[in-house]
Amino acid sequence: MKSIYPPEDFVEKANVKDPAIYSKAKENWIDYWESFAKELHWFEPWEKFFDDSKAPYYRFFVNGKINASYNCVDRHLKEKRNKAAIIWEGEKGENRVLTYFDLYREVGKLSNALRNLGVKKGDKVGIYMPNLPEAVISMLAAARIGATHVFIFAGFSPKSAAFRMKDSGVKLLITADGYYRRGNLINLKEKADEALEEYKGVENVVVVRRAGNEIDMKEGRDHDYAELVRKEKAKSECEITDANDPLFIIYTSGSVAEPKGIIHSTGGYLVHVYATSKIVLDLKDEDVLFCTADLGWITGHSYSVYGPLSLGATVLLYEGAPDYPDICRTFELIEKYGVTVFYTVPTLVRMLQGCGNIDSFDLSTLRLIGSVGEPLEAENWLWLYEEVGKKKCPVVDTWWQTETGGIVIAPIPALTPMKPGSVSKPLPGIEVDIYDSGGKKAKPYQLGHLVIKKMFPGFMLGIHGDPKAYVQLYWSKFGKRVYLTGDYAYYDEDGYIWISGRADDVINISGHRVSLVEIEKVVKELREVADCAAIGVPDRIKGTAIALFVVAEKSDDLAEKIKKKIEEDIGRIALPRLIVFVKELPKTAGKVFKRAIADAVIKKEISGIASNVEVVKKIAEKIDKNA
Ligand code: WT7
Repeated sequence: MKSIYPPEDFVEKANVKDPAIYSKAKENWIDYWESFAKELHWFEPWEKFFDDSKAPYYRFFVNGKINASYNCVDRHLKEKRNKAAIIWEGEKGENRVLTYFDLYREVGKLSNALRNLGVKKGDKVGIYMPNLPEAVISMLAAARIGATHVFIFAGFSPKSAAFRMKDSGVKLLITADGYYRRGNLINLKEKADEALEEYKGVENVVVVRRAGNEIDMKEGRDHDYAELVRKEKAKSECEITDANDPLFIIYTSGSVAEPKGIIHSTGGYLVHVYATSKIVLDLKDEDVLFCTADLGWITGHSYSVYGPLSLGATVLLYEGAPDYPDICRTFELIEKYGVTVFYTVPTLVRMLQGCGNIDSFDLSTLRLIGSVGEPLEAENWLWLYEEVGKKKCPVVDTWWQTETGGIVIAPIPALTPMKPGSVSKPLPGIEVDIYDSGGKKAKPYQLGHLVIKKMFPGFMLGIHGDPKAYVQLYWSKFGKRVYLTGDYAYYDEDGYIWISGRADDVINISGHRVSLVEIEKVVKELREVADCAAIGVPDRIKGTAIALFVVAEKSDDLAEKIKKKIEEDIGRIALPRLIVFVKELPKTAGKVFKRAIADAVIKKEISGIASNVEVVKKIAEKIDKNA
């Protein structure tokens, strides 16, 4: 595939156009990162940039004192007081604009209210909310007083929410009465109440009135958000937090049964998302950034909140479904708010291709398009470049993970020739590699494990409450200095990186990580199920979908029961597209041999390695009948 060079108009105005940035970062790694850090506000400077004495726990900006809320809000008051910080649109088209001064007042008031409710530095504050300005305010209010926020995606079931709250030890929860999704009212407070039945550690619940639906308010526990903040003063001192105090915990799926709470730092994380918003998303003062992720995922944390707000940019926050009332809604939003930087996931890109009349929208404000979350195929890359950006916008495919906090591999838009389908090269100051199973560098086109060899400030502090898993999942295959990402990738002849997918028991549905082991565990809990195996199968829109193989006496309602259980225990995101009842699962050495099932289903190949190969053949036949 030939390279596409960054459009000239773009290059002229880009934040970074000197290719020496790569060599400079290599020669002086510390200076490189410190120069970004110095652009932020610190109460006290750090004593040491990097500490690896407790590897694989790496620390940056040791003993530096910084507050994330101060940097995202107060720092901008002098020059950007009346500038829009957040432009919000609800699904029905209602909108609100919050200037930096508004944000300052709202964050200050809520942080004072939280303090009055007894929240202290180090306490965990849960946020169970859709994309509302109050969700951003809640994050920044918690950060302001040194509390750690634990955002729970609103689409998660009460059980998942309870698990996350319990695991992290949430003390106070901020939620909303309800919200709209594809025109339907979702009663979120009811879900929160259900979760709080299961986890009793929450002393106070703050409820944002968003939809006005009828809800139960529990005396002494539940507080109306508006009433609570009305009495509070806007002025609120920022807690002097340490660079390595946790800013937030966010849950993600791994190749273990339960979701893991990834802990992120305050200083290093902020520096990383600030730097990458500047060099990869090329954010400038006049930009309107539309990041389509939900705030409940890391992408929302990093590129709808901490990155752009620490830079003082304007963020467009959309609450509803991207395909409501139709698939062109995203283009409508870009036109309406003059979006200049559009950051999205391949699943949405594939959906957007269904909007027939793209040229009836004025998308001329766009100047950069970014993608994250799953492989962006060359065909979709080209469509973005030609049809959406009209060849005037670089398209940056950015690779990173919940664990990395911010972008790790991506083109620098004005510098790196782009190859559709490739994530290009690691950012300056970061070193990655591709290893074969023995730890040797892979040759071009040889599929291997994507690893990170040089740490960077955005990297996680650890896994909440599970240091064993931290070491075992990421640092056992290649040692304490080489981070295992869990992805397979290969180099091409120019050293460009191509991501092929997960190497572990995790799949990627519409850019969200789903653990196959977690699904299997939940399904096996049903009395009727003797055994089961979940695998990922290609899906035209979502990238991957789930096929579930269940050993059970088929009964009329078992499939429905399984679906209900998955929806309740995990969420709709983990629902299988296909459930197949089988008599037996293929095994090797007593373990379910999932690759044999995958090969039979996807490649139509029968693997002879399974001890009971007949079973594999039966599965293949069944799929043929089902297809
Ligand atoms: C996994 C991380 C980072 C925010 C969203 C997802 C996959 C991520 C790309 C990309 C191909 C990608 C990887 C990774 N992934 N970006 N540009 N091309 N695959 O965060 O839920 O932590 O998932 O998403 O498999 O490991 P996450």
